[in-house]
Amino acid sequence: MTILEASPSAAGTTTAPGTAAAWPAPARRHHRRRLPPGRGRVLDVAGVRVAFGAVQALDGVTLAVREGAFVGLIGPNGAGKTTFFNVLSGFVTPSGGRVRLAGQRIDGWSAPRRARAGLTRTFQNIGLDKQATVADNLGVAREGGGLAGELQRSFGLRSRSGATGEDRTAALLDRLELTGVLGERVDRLPVGTAKLVELVAALSRRPRLLLLDEPASGLGAPERARLGALLRDLHRDDGTTILMIEHDMALAMSTVEYLYVLNFGTMLAQGPPDMIRRDPKVIEAYLGKAAGT
Ligand SMILES: Nc1ncnc2c1ncn2[C@@H]1O[C@H](COP(=O)(O)OP(=O)(O)O)[C@@H](O)[C@H]1O
Ligand SMILES: [Mg+2]
Repeated sequence: MTILEASPSAAGTTTAPGTAAAWPAPARRHHRRRLPPGRGRVLDVAGVRVAFGAVQALDGVTLAVREGAFVGLIGPNGAGKTTFFNVLSGFVTPSGGRVRLAGQRIDGWSAPRRARAGLTRTFQNIGLDKQATVADNLGVAREGGGLAGELQRSFGLRSRSGATGEDRTAALLDRLELTGVLGERVDRLPVGTAKLVELVAALSRRPRLLLLDEPASGLGAPERARLGALLRDLHRDDGTTILMIEHDMALAMSTVEYLYVLNFGTMLAQGPPDMIRRDPKVIEAYLGKAAGT
């Protein structure tokens, strides 16, 4: 069994993204899908180029994410995935191309302005204040009033409609079994736990577009399972629009509806996971290598 054979049902999904029901109407079935499913384009990137000295990290990258979609970005190490996120967030200025958020050009915007517009991101190496507690990072009370009281109860994501920000944060902490670490300093947490806290922080901002850079790296198997379930729920119940870089192929294949594959700074393939896992180009250039190990 190779990584390619990881089944969507392996991680316990019920809606199985990538099954026929979620996929193109019959009339379009014979066409290669040019765009992930969903409504209007939240993110629309065309022809983005970035060079670091002699390294062409991104060589004309085009990608779109529709509202409410859950899209994955995969590729071997050094393919340019994090650089792509840095372009979206405004940390790296591309030498060419366009970036639109909800139809608006944001190329010239500062990183904080993009964040205020709802472009929210987690980092491969955790973007929290590591000397501060979890509670401080999340802007919630550690004990006493509202949140701690709420935490005694069990929240389901489905029952959150109309919930306040704190309710939402409490529900997410509960869902990820993180209520016990509110008083802990982030630098004392296992890396996997800190990554989940970062995810809660990002989600509690109700992002217009959530960018996740390898959310499962550093997580143990039980945490990965919880993360996968949470991401599927968020997508299905909450309509959160997500673009996720992920190295864990089983997690990516079992959560996203559509995948882009980056290789040496160019888009090698795009399509539903079932198509990507059978694509000879992808197998040869990326997954074949991993499957051989
Ligand atoms: N700040 C930087 N300065 C110089 N080279 C960089 C920088 N960031 C990334 N690179 C190079 O760009 C390429 C793409 O890196 P990266 O975007 O981190 O890939 P990925 O996230 O897909 O592993 C690599 O060759 C990497 O060494
Ligand atoms: Mg990276």
